[in-house]
Amino acid sequence: MGWRGMVFCALFALIVGAGLAWIIERPGSERMASVMTTGEPRVGGPFSLVDHTGRSVTESDYRGHFLLVYFGFTYCPDVCPTELQVMATALEELGRKAERVQPLFITVDPERDTTSVLADYVKHFYPRLVGLTGSVDQIAAVARAYRVYFAKEPESQAGGSSYNVNHSSYIYLMDPAGRFLDHFTFGTAPEEIARRIARYF
Ligand code: NI
Repeated sequence: MGWRGMVFCALFALIVGAGLAWIIERPGSERMASVMTTGEPRVGGPFSLVDHTGRSVTESDYRGHFLLVYFGFTYCPDVCPTELQVMATALEELGRKAERVQPLFITVDPERDTTSVLADYVKHFYPRLVGLTGSVDQIAAVARAYRVYFAKEPESQAGGSSYNVNHSSYIYLMDPAGRFLDHFTFGTAPEEIARRIARYF
């Protein structure tokens, strides 16, 4: 290759190197690296739902706040109540900083979780916890956007009002512009969650 080619190659290497260094040096780079290597898809996006007071809301109603987003259902016997309690404790850990965080509980069981059922439920966990429901299609769309898996248990497909819903259990942290920042798996301690949220403040 001629000198032009060599200059081009040198410049290219410099640019790629600087880009990599920038990514590696950034706070939260472990997550960035894992997103890059695992090809984790984008999490979050627009939604249109109804909150537990009956108000129609979209993602833009929550702009300007960090969001903690958890998907589940009020009839869940153990995992959902545990995680909502963990979320509440993490917010208490944050003290005044918690004012910048809006916790959301989005049902994966809209047929049973009406606005009034949600209103009764969310108040047991945290004063500012918002419960969100919607049509079956709206819930399917928001679950897809957040890469949340959910399905009624096969034996309960036949009908009746007593059924279990299997669902993935992640608490998502979104930034004030609605972009994904972090997620917390089941079993992550509230103190750890509070610490990881506070990194972004
Ligand atoms: Ni659950």
